[in-house]
Amino acid sequence: MSPSLTVSRIAAQQGSVLRELRTASLREAPYAFGETLEDALLVDPSSFEETAALHANSPRLATFLLYTEGHPCGLVHAYIEETPGARAFVSALWVAPAVRHLRGGELLMNVATRWLAAQGAAEVHAWISEENRTAMRFYERLGFGPTGERRAMPSHEEEAESLFVRHMQAEDDL
Ligand SMILES: CC(C)(COP(=O)(O)OP(=O)(O)OC[C@H]1O[C@@H](n2cnc3c(N)ncnc32)[C@H](O)[C@@H]1OP(=O)(O)O)[C@@H](O)C(=O)NCCC(=O)NCCS
Repeated sequence: MSPSLTVSRIAAQQGSVLRELRTASLREAPYAFGETLEDALLVDPSSFEETAALHANSPRLATFLLYTEGHPCGLVHAYIEETPGARAFVSALWVAPAVRHLRGGELLMNVATRWLAAQGAAEVHAWISEENRTAMRFYERLGFGPTGERRAMPSHEEEAESLFVRHMQAEDDL
């Protein structure tokens, strides 16, 4: 039987859960992210507490956690840039290998996208490593397409990432 998967917004006191999931993702899928495991391990653990507190309540930044049978097993960040364009993004998406291909990634994305739409976003952006074919297929299946914008990956300057976007319609079933 498939484990039941649920998603909830991070709570203010879940800094240690955030640190655990983020370091697990950087250890397991270093090719996918612009930060390295070393970067994350150097950060003072108290800053994860601050991030959790901010992402639990801010109207501009949020983290959503995936759970299987009550155990945290994935995450995604959602945020709105503080620039005049106020573009909306998802980032840091990760699902633990043991629960992949069960639509946990899709569930995280749907909850994050719904939250961004409620904050007024009409489009959602994601930077995706050009090496990460699985993520590209995953995002394309959810209606994302390339914008044509590219940049060197932060922390892996020799690799490039592409900006993908999904335009949300009022009738979208999020
Ligand atoms: C990308 C990622 C988040 C997807 O998570 P996931 O929970 O496996 O995603 P889903 O189950 O919603 O869908 C993934 C794929 O599994 C397929 N799938 C879903 N349920 C399935 C099932 N029961 N049986 C077989 N395949 C299934 C989906 O069709 C999809 O395949 P497709 O994209 O080829 O069509 C996950 O692979 C991951 O964490 N990767 C490493 C980190 C990463 O790359 N993050 C993205 C950074 S931009």
